[in-house]
Amino acid sequence: SSIVCSTLTAVTRANIVMSYSRIACLSTPSVYQKLRQRLVEGSDRTSAVVLEYDHTFDTYGQEFIFYDYNEPLSLPEDVAPQSFDIILADPPYLSEDCLTKVAQTVKYLAKGKVLLCTDEPHIAKHAEKLMGLNICSFLPNHKLANEFHCFTKYTSILLSRDSATATLCL
Ligand SMILES: C[S@@+](CC[C@H](N)C(=O)[O-])C[C@H]1O[C@@H](n2cnc3c(N)ncnc32)[C@H](O)[C@@H]1O
Repeated sequence: SSIVCSTLTAVTRANIVMSYSRIACLSTPSVYQKLRQRLVEGSDRTSAVVLEYDHTFDTYGQEFIFYDYNEPLSLPEDVAPQSFDIILADPPYLSEDCLTKVAQTVKYLAKGKVLLCTDEPHIAKHAEKLMGLNICSFLPNHKLANEFHCFTKYTSILLSRDSATATLCL
C-alpha cells in the first residue's frame, strides 16, 4: 500500500512521540515535517531525522538520511547503532521481504521503542515475528478509506483506545 498519511494522522503520531528526545522517522516524512514545523507541543524538546528514499527531502540538510530499504544497513557512518529513543516507521511495501529488511534497520537504530503505523492490519503476524511488535487498540482518526493501525513494542497509555480522544485533541 502507498497511501499518503493524512496530516491529522501525522500530527497524532507526532503527539505520541513528543516526550522522546531523539526520533527517527523511517519512511515517514509527513511525521518528520510536523515535528520540524514545531506544530506539536513539546516538539521543541525533540530532535528528529527523516530516513527517506525520496531525495525531495534532502532540503532538510543533515536531518535527511538517504535510506533504501533494500540496503537496510547502508547508513552513514555517523549514524550510531541504538542511537534513537523511538523509531516511527511506515514501510513502503507490505511484503514480508520489505518488512524483514525494515526490521533490520529498526533493530540497528532503536534503543528499544518502535511505533509502526500501517493501513494493513494483516501484517500483524510479521510485525510480531520480525520486530516483536503488538497491535494497539488505538485507531488514529483520519479521513482515509483504509483503517490505520499502530503496532508497538512498548506499552503506551496514549495508544490505548480510551485515550484516543485525548490524543486527537489537536
Ligand atoms: C507508505 S509511504 C508512508 C508515508 C508516511 N505515512 C508519512 O508519514 O509520510 C512510504 C514512504 O516510503 C518511501 N519509500 C519509497 N520507496 C522506498 C525505498 N526503496 N526505501 C525506503 N523508503 C521508500 C516513500 O517515499 C514514502 O515516503
